[in-house]
Amino acid sequence: MSKALEGVKILDMTHVQSGPTCTQLLAWFGADVIKVERPGVGDATRGQLQDIPNVDSLYFTMLNSNKRSLTLNTKSDEGKAIFTKLIEHCDVMVENFAPGALDRMGFTWERIQEINPRMIYASVKGFGPGPYEDCKVYENVAQCTGGAASTTGEIDSVPLVTGAQIGDSGTGLHLALGIVTALFHRSHSGKGQRVTCAMQDGVLNLCRVKLRDQQRLEHGPLTEYPQYPNGTFGEATPRAGNASGGGQPGWIVKCKGWETDPDAYIYVITQAAAFDGLAKAIGHEDWLEDPDWNTPKARLPRLEEMFDEIEKWTKTKTKFEVMDILNPLNVPCGPILSMKELAEEPSLRETGTIVEVDHPERGKYLTVGNPVKLSDSPADVDRSPLLGEHTDEILKEIGLSVAEIESSKSAGAV
Ligand SMILES: CC(C)(COP(=O)(O)OP(=O)(O)OC[C@H]1O[C@@H](n2cnc3c(N)ncnc32)[C@H](O)[C@@H]1OP(=O)(O)O)[C@@H](O)C(=O)NCCC(=O)NCCS
Repeated sequence: MSKALEGVKILDMTHVQSGPTCTQLLAWFGADVIKVERPGVGDATRGQLQDIPNVDSLYFTMLNSNKRSLTLNTKSDEGKAIFTKLIEHCDVMVENFAPGALDRMGFTWERIQEINPRMIYASVKGFGPGPYEDCKVYENVAQCTGGAASTTGEIDSVPLVTGAQIGDSGTGLHLALGIVTALFHRSHSGKGQRVTCAMQDGVLNLCRVKLRDQQRLEHGPLTEYPQYPNGTFGEATPRAGNASGGGQPGWIVKCKGWETDPDAYIYVITQAAAFDGLAKAIGHEDWLEDPDWNTPKARLPRLEEMFDEIEKWTKTKTKFEVMDILNPLNVPCGPILSMKELAEEPSLRETGTIVEVDHPERGKYLTVGNPVKLSDSPADVDRSPLLGEHTDEILKEIGLSVAEIESSKSAGAV
């Protein structure tokens, strides 16, 4: 079985999270990803949040699996000559530097096309063209500027950012799709193209249901939001606590052990089609005949009371017991799983969604595997490279002699 992107060579100029997410995904699919890092320094995340002194951090190792590392100072003359050879050699270049960084090194899109007209040149930036295009951006800035923070959080409380890295990893995923689309296009056009994705745009794309609600608001209150019918709506899509955005009421309720376990909760969706079973399960058969309860519309003003009643029942069971009882009744629900529970979940290990790999300096560690499964193209997960681990091997591949490699080293270019 061959890897789907076998033979595709990626010149990986990415750092931190958004770009590395993209190239890690391409590497899992089988592309040869050459990560270019500054000599002696490398990707800043190697040294950030280190749990073991002087060993590549988990921040780095979990974003750079299946890649090869080459150290190269792309600002020196020798380094620029090698970088030019790499552009000739590769199919795709990916970067997520601050706006203009590669132009400042002398590698504009025009120059890159001169060197290799088949090159696909992909970038993540914080913003697209507009008032903020020159700004540096990190995850939470993107969550705030892309509409996620204004629509996340408790009603009547501050905006909240989420732990899911929708700005960084989310934009990396979008960019990967742009790259494979451009590769597909190149297979018949013969030409490369520029691929860009702004983090603000990526986050907004993921927040589309909130833009939907913004427009619905012009035609009346959002009836599935907890603000309805007793609260008020302002001019913009409000925060909705844990309400389900899908038109079927949902909420997080406590389960047995909540007093001491911060994750003893479950999300329950009171889908209309499964409501009778749910009402019976929690001992509220009376609701089935009661006109105040037996239609979705009648229940809308009583959602808080309804979830309080559901919670009285869920508090008597563990989140897994609730799941076991409600699932056969077609009541959609999801236990709040902690990272500890996920890390220990055997089924996620079996599917390769979480994998354990061995690192020469840190020993064994857990990392994410490819969440996208291809039936004929397996994705094995290899550990991240040490800084410059593959420098000599890559320089030989692009045609440098042993003497040239040595002279680049003594000039400090690699
Ligand atoms: C993430 C970000 C805020 C980090 O900013 P930063 O740490 O200041 O890093 P920069 O991207 O500005 O790069 C720093 C410098 O290193 C240089 N550099 C990087 N790799 C190099 C190499 N191999 N050789 C020589 N110089 C190198 C860059 O050219 C840049 O120099 P310049 O400022 O003279 O142009 C910024 O890169 C950014 O906004 N990126 C786009 C959005 C993004 O992806 N954000 C999410 C990150 S998870």
